[in-house]
Amino acid sequence: MYNEIDLKQININASPPAEEPQRQYYFMAKCCQYTKQFFTGHGRFPTAHVQNYGCQMNARDSEKLTGILEAVGYEIVDSEEADFVIYNTCTVRENANNKVWGRLGYLNTYKKKHPHMKIALCGCMMQEAEVLEKLKKSYRFVDLVFGTHNIYKFAELLHATFVQEGMVIDIWKDTDKIVEDLPVERKYKFKSGVNIMFGCNNFCSYCIVPYVRGRERSRKPQDILREIEQLAADGVVEIMLLGQNVNSYGKNLDVPVTFAQLLSDIEKIEGIERIRFMTSHPKDLSDELIAVMAKSSKICHHLHLPLQSGSSRILKEMNRHYDKEQYLALVERIRSAVPGIALTTDIIVGFPGETEEDFLETLDVVRRVGYESAFTFIYSKRTGTPAATKSDQVPENVVKERFDRLLKEVQQHATMRANALTGSVDEVLVEEVNEQDDTLVSGRLGNNFIVHFPGSRDLIGKIVKVKLNECKGFYFYGELAQ
Ligand code: SAH
Ligand code: SF4
Ligand code: F3S
Repeated sequence: MYNEIDLKQININASPPAEEPQRQYYFMAKCCQYTKQFFTGHGRFPTAHVQNYGCQMNARDSEKLTGILEAVGYEIVDSEEADFVIYNTCTVRENANNKVWGRLGYLNTYKKKHPHMKIALCGCMMQEAEVLEKLKKSYRFVDLVFGTHNIYKFAELLHATFVQEGMVIDIWKDTDKIVEDLPVERKYKFKSGVNIMFGCNNFCSYCIVPYVRGRERSRKPQDILREIEQLAADGVVEIMLLGQNVNSYGKNLDVPVTFAQLLSDIEKIEGIERIRFMTSHPKDLSDELIAVMAKSSKICHHLHLPLQSGSSRILKEMNRHYDKEQYLALVERIRSAVPGIALTTDIIVGFPGETEEDFLETLDVVRRVGYESAFTFIYSKRTGTPAATKSDQVPENVVKERFDRLLKEVQQHATMRANALTGSVDEVLVEEVNEQDDTLVSGRLGNNFIVHFPGSRDLIGKIVKVKLNECKGFYFYGELAQ
């Protein structure tokens, strides 16, 4: 385990070991020299800022970057005015890229006044050839660029920025490697994400993720269980299992395991009170999983089940491998096995060729399922995906109008679902002191709704019973129940 490693014991004058993670421990020890030198020169350790732009998987990667920066002697700060700034990027939609280009302009101005500052970029956007070209041409002030497949090499790459002139670039096309036992710094003490797999093999026709995250790779169950046991020993009560399609977990392992079997094993770990997971692809959601959820006392009664579109014709074009009827039948099976389960979803509006009739099918599913909440997205053309070459892109004004109608429908059902819980008593995991009113604390129900109630800081990380007095649409005001 990483926490048993003493970096001071590593001989940094020897040549670097070839095997992982020992090689990274060696470079971490080397980086420590630089932060110590900085301390001697400045009377303080260098500061570092890690900015995340992506999904929960990226957020977990950012915790790994933070863990390494802390281990080598950086002080982590919230501000971008730091000695080392790293952006962990996303490219799922065009606006994710635009945000990064915008912020880079600002960082450049800051760096001109603080020339010793280092700027690093990593994550999904870096896996795109055009992005790399643009960086090489017009963003020479960036010190380090790496992608999603070699993030485990961060210590080695960071070290390269100290000894190498110019922009350090290391982008891999793909990998089958998973490196365990590197340091990670959790954002919350009481909850944590846990990667169970990386990459995606589904190639939904609109989606860039399989191209930038590579092929699906599952971690070994014993590595996952060991990590969760360690987290539980460290005070974590809630875990979120992460993967682009958790329902296909374990299929490619030497000894295949199903996701449902993995969940049953995790359930046995003492100290873990709540288990969440995302994302579940409807095409691979098994009856075995539904049965495990139904009898579990720890798996939260919440399922994120991306619909993307309610039109069977569009679903086929999207390469989703289910149709409207199959999706609705699945919802039916889940709801009857796990009564009261909260369902949330992702929906894309304006996929190429989407007609008014197709869109009405989506509205129909939203009405029939009545989601607790939904992430709604305007289709964004991603170069390199099959959908990007389609000629029948939907005009912007039509998409916008459909998007507004969808949002209204979603909100109406979400409010109805939440309202139905008013007056009940349920368990809340307290997460933080309320930002607006410090006499309140805020937390989440198992079904993921947020609750604010009077309470003090020492409740953070505890699961308590709360009466849901007042529903505000997407959240509740409540009080501790005895
Ligand atoms: N693996 C997950 C989704 C990861 S991406 C799954 O299959 O559900 C998160 C969401 O972004 C997707 O569910 C989809 O709704 C949305 N998305 C992906 N590509 C998009 C695109 N090109 N335009 C708009 N939304 C997109
Ligand atoms: Fe993208 Fe589809 Fe893979 Fe999800 S399952 S990451 S939407 S390709
Ligand atoms: Fe974005 Fe990469 Fe996640 S593209 S959504 S950060 S997997």
